[in-house]
Order: sequence, then structure tokens, then C-alpha cells
Amino acid sequence: MPGTGFEARRVWFVDRLAQLNDGGATILCAFDVLDGRMAGLITLETDGHIDQLAVAVHVWGSGAATALLNEVKRMHAGGPLTLDVNQDNARAVRFYEREGFRRVDARRNATSGLPIWRYQWADISAVG
Ligand SMILES: CC(C)(COP(=O)(O)OP(=O)(O)OC[C@H]1O[C@@H](n2cnc3c(N)ncnc32)[C@H](O)[C@@H]1OP(=O)(O)O)[C@@H](O)C(=O)NCCC(=O)NCCS
Repeated sequence: MPGTGFEARRVWFVDRLAQLNDGGATILCAFDVLDGRMAGLITLETDGHIDQLAVAVHVWGSGAATALLNEVKRMHAGGPLTLDVNQDNARAVRFYEREGFRRVDARRNATSGLPIWRYQWADISAVG
């Protein structure tokens, strides 16, 4: 989030990505076809948990986040996919609900203590 102070969290974030990678997670990156710059990333753990999804502010609303999510849905065919989102992150909440995720639980982030929602997605067309 732009208001989070990303530079202050860079070390934590790099460590988190390394931890996910060591645990066997897939880390997918999106690149801007116009200038080759990285546009965003998503992580997918073997149990279907999405720990990180972020796209650069200049591509918000472009469909890049949907494309990353669709690729993860394809990779983890049928689901379920799970993720946690800060309850005050209205844009992300709206995004996940539009992309078919359903709210299943309320809890607190173990590190920040902030209230979060747990969301889940499963491909209902794959049932039956
Ligand atoms: C969350 C994120 C991946 C979504 O990608 P995006 O490209 O911004 O998403 P989209 O523009 O496709 O969709 C955003 C939706 O939220 C809506 N929205 C925007 N601001 C909003 C607000 N303040 N409150 C509610 N809804 C809002 C948009 O109108 C759109 O919904 P719509 O399609 O029904 O009109 C991206 O914003 C991001 O990287 N954010 C920073 C990192 C982050 O928060 N990651 C999620 C952590 S779990």
C-alpha cells in the first residue's frame, strides 16, 4: 500500500519472499510490455494460500492483478485458494469479492494485530 512506507518494509518483504520460496511457493511476476518494468507479483503456496499479491500503482485498474490471480487459479485448478486481507483495505476487499472470493472468517494479523478478513475461492463449476 502506498501509505505503508514500502522502503521501511523492504528488508522484511525480501525475507518473506525468500521464506516463501524456500517453502516451495510459486512466485509469479508480471511485467509491463511497454517498458519491461516489473508490474506486480503474486505468491502461491502448495496448500493454495496466497500470501502476497501486489501490483504497481501505475497499473492499478489495468487488469494486471486479475491476470496474476487467474494464472494462480489455473495453476491450483479448482481451488480452494485462501488469503488474508486487512479489513480497512477497501480496494483489495472489493477486488477479491469481484474476482469471486468469499469471506469466511475474521481474525487478527499475528504480526500487526490489525483486523483481517480471511477469503476463500473455489471453482464451483468444478463441483459435480
Ligand atoms: C489489491 C490490488 C492487487 C488490486 O488490483 P487493482 O488493479 O487495483 O484492482 P482493480 O482496479 O481491478 O479493482 C479494484 C476495485 O476496487 C474498487 N475500488 C477502488 N478504490 C476503492 C475504495 N477505496 N473502496 C472500495 N472499492 C474501491 C474499484 O472501483 C474496483 O472495483 P470495480 O471493478 O467494481 O469498479 C492492488 O490495488 C494492489 O496491489 N494494492 C496494494 C497491495 C495490496 O493491497 N494487496 C492486497 C493485500 S491482501
